[in-house]
Amino acid sequence: MKVVKTIEELKKHIRDCKKTRKEIGFVPTMGYLHEGHLSLIKYAASENDFVVVSIFVNPTQFGPKEDYAEYPRDLERDISLAEKAGAHMIFAPATSEMYPKGYATFVEVERLTENLCGGSRPGFFRGIATVVTKLFHLVEPNRAYFGQKDAQQAIVIQRMVRDLNMNIEICACPIIRESDGLAMSSRNVYLSSEERHQALSLSQSLFCAKELILNGERDKQIILSDIHQKIASQPLAEIDYIEMVDSENLKEVEQVCGRILIALAVWFGKTRLIDNIFVEV
Ligand code: PAJ
Repeated sequence: MKVVKTIEELKKHIRDCKKTRKEIGFVPTMGYLHEGHLSLIKYAASENDFVVVSIFVNPTQFGPKEDYAEYPRDLERDISLAEKAGAHMIFAPATSEMYPKGYATFVEVERLTENLCGGSRPGFFRGIATVVTKLFHLVEPNRAYFGQKDAQQAIVIQRMVRDLNMNIEICACPIIRESDGLAMSSRNVYLSSEERHQALSLSQSLFCAKELILNGERDKQIILSDIHQKIASQPLAEIDYIEMVDSENLKEVEQVCGRILIALAVWFGKTRLIDNIFVEV
């Protein structure tokens, strides 16, 4: 497997792929890979001839008080995991390669980025849309793979690709969870054992909400209060948001109807965790 760090080197390999008509699958990541990332690489390997994984902790999607500096990094371990999962090439650029001096251009997706994580993290989706656009131009993939773990991100990228006429198929893949239900995340390593234990309330409350809905409950307030109560009863949890939205336009829904997304973000100490569930009625 090749590990390339410069745009020039990456482009040379991409040109070779295009010449030989290889279909390219692309998995953008910020590294510190876990089974969630690896599942995306495996999907990509099963549907394409050549799989590129990017590993880049993107500074433009972190706020000034967020964890950019502390974000976990381990490139050597990532390289070996990605290779085993079926990647053919890793693109791991330096920050100056992606954002050279004088960099001034950003991509903004409106409306879909106003609430949920976009509401609590101003500039977050501007940074994501910008870096993903740049990576798409560099890698020129046929397909790109995103996890439903970051449901809003996948929806924003889908809309960006449609609006900007990018000829790339966006594949949204299921959330991979630990055996006890906790959604896998690179940030889980920040959790103390007590925080990790209490964090199980996130997935458990979402699973219960789905159960409530499938058993006939249609009142949004009852469902959201149930989730709220289960999480708020954990002493270390500080709720950022719990919302029920339409799964396409991400607008708040009043009644449970059609395909909805229940998404939440909760702080445990200095760690912000997100989780979500789709329900169709
Ligand atoms: P990162 O958090 O590293 O996630 C990379 C990809 O892995 C995303 O598509 C994310 O949804 C997916 N992923 C993470 N945890 C997952 C899980 N438990 N199950 C399934 N998929 C999971 O998301 C980013 O990086 C960045 O915003 C990025 C798109 C790379 C732009 O910088």
